[in-house]
Amino acid sequence: ISIKTEHFAILQKLQKIRKPIEARSLSEKLKIPYEKLMSGAIFSLEQVGLAKFQEEELELITLTKEAKSYLNLGLPERQIFNMLGKNDRKEVKLLDFAKEIEEKLNFQKRLFFVGISKMKKNRWILSSKSMGYEQIFINKESPEKTEEEQVLDLFKDKISYSLSEIPKKLREAINSIYNRKLVKKNKRILRLVELTPKGKIITKEELQLIDEEINLISSEMLKDGSWKKNLSNLKNYEVNALGPNITAGKYHPLTIIINEVREVFHSMGFEEIKGPIVEEAFYNFDCLFQPQDHPAREMQDTFYLKNPAEGKLPKKKIVEVIKNTHENGGTTGSTGWGYKWSEEIAKKMLLRTHTTATTIRRLSHITKKSKLPMKVFCVDRVFRNESEDKTHLAQFMQIDGIVIGENLTLSDLIGQLVEFYKRMGFEKVVTRPGFFPYTEPSMEISVYSKELGAWLEMGGSGMFRPEVTYAWGVKDPVRVLAWGMGLERLAMLKLKRNDIRDLYQSPIEWLREASY
Ligand code: PHE
Repeated sequence: ISIKTEHFAILQKLQKIRKPIEARSLSEKLKIPYEKLMSGAIFSLEQVGLAKFQEEELELITLTKEAKSYLNLGLPERQIFNMLGKNDRKEVKLLDFAKEIEEKLNFQKRLFFVGISKMKKNRWILSSKSMGYEQIFINKESPEKTEEEQVLDLFKDKISYSLSEIPKKLREAINSIYNRKLVKKNKRILRLVELTPKGKIITKEELQLIDEEINLISSEMLKDGSWKKNLSNLKNYEVNALGPNITAGKYHPLTIIINEVREVFHSMGFEEIKGPIVEEAFYNFDCLFQPQDHPAREMQDTFYLKNPAEGKLPKKKIVEVIKNTHENGGTTGSTGWGYKWSEEIAKKMLLRTHTTATTIRRLSHITKKSKLPMKVFCVDRVFRNESEDKTHLAQFMQIDGIVIGENLTLSDLIGQLVEFYKRMGFEKVVTRPGFFPYTEPSMEISVYSKELGAWLEMGGSGMFRPEVTYAWGVKDPVRVLAWGMGLERLAMLKLKRNDIRDLYQSPIEWLREASY
């Protein structure tokens, strides 16, 4: 077949359709693979000025899972209203009704009150507190469908709509139902194909006349040698044309950054260690000389486990030292915190709140024979009972490093920090006095970001106190340098994101384009 005839069939089809058509649905209609259609017929028609493209961004509206469950039963306000009207009841005590609805409809309190407030807004019900408690009364016998309900009904016929397909008078309701998280909006790019005015009227004969370039050499042409005769008509390669986007699999940028951190530590002679995510409070807090009434240990800051609620403590000898250290300083030369230390509290299980809980465990490996200095790091997950927002997550990553060695000084620590951050890409590092219960002296570390032209606080550091090291037999002249930092802050800086949640609840477009 000649290329022209093949293209003419498609041209004819487009002439019949008359209006712009989405390329994907055209390829389905014609049963020609999309890529082939676009790089073949459509491309040639465009080249000779008979067709053109248009790209359009479209927002598709679909129901969320919650909304799908209302498709048949109705929105919560309707379901609750129907219950209210049962048995010719006209009024009811609000709190009793909440219980009834929880039992009969399995609606949680939140949903119940959403429903009630909608019913009030729609004026289906009225309420009064004159009895000292809230009562609600039916105000409309059989209220007609609200706009929000009409929107929901639309989705009985079709699972997704673009905004322009929604009747004008329901557009407002789309917004309110979106705010109720009953619909989601997804962006899609549509490629529309349309004939030019010339393309719309051209006949087969006229098409033959167009001196079309040859963009495909068929096997026939190769066999009978006719390709040679057409050399001057051969289409040139369009080297500037963009190919289709390839969304290939790749590493998540966070994984890459974690590996960079690992590389920096390895290059400085550190070895990676891992430790439990589910920890005894003992390692997370007590070993780090954090008193048992320290606010960070409260439930609202730390996730405690119900099961197992209790863990194991190490050898009696060590527990004894920690207990004495907290109570009166023991042999460390400190006066301790001066309270009665409880084994029960130390045994509680929790989700590790910092990776220092893991590096501290390393001290138990030190014996007289250990080769010093010992340099280890940990980069891993930690948990804090925080409400999540632009700058906070309840689960995040930390990086901790320690050096155990003889005669180490604060200058050694600063040296390690400067070198570490330099290798991480920060030229300027500044340390300031800081406080952590487990280090003395302690320092805050800030680095200078060239991109932002500002100093950023990056982490904490210090030398472990005798109150921390003695329990493990680590004593002067052996000392421990330690530092820790969050990973996500660093990642946000490197990836230029200002919402920390982007790193995990990935907007897929961003991940696709991220060249990190
Ligand atoms: N653990 C501290 C934090 O979570 C950081 C730190 C580690 C400070 C080691 C001093 C020494 O912020």
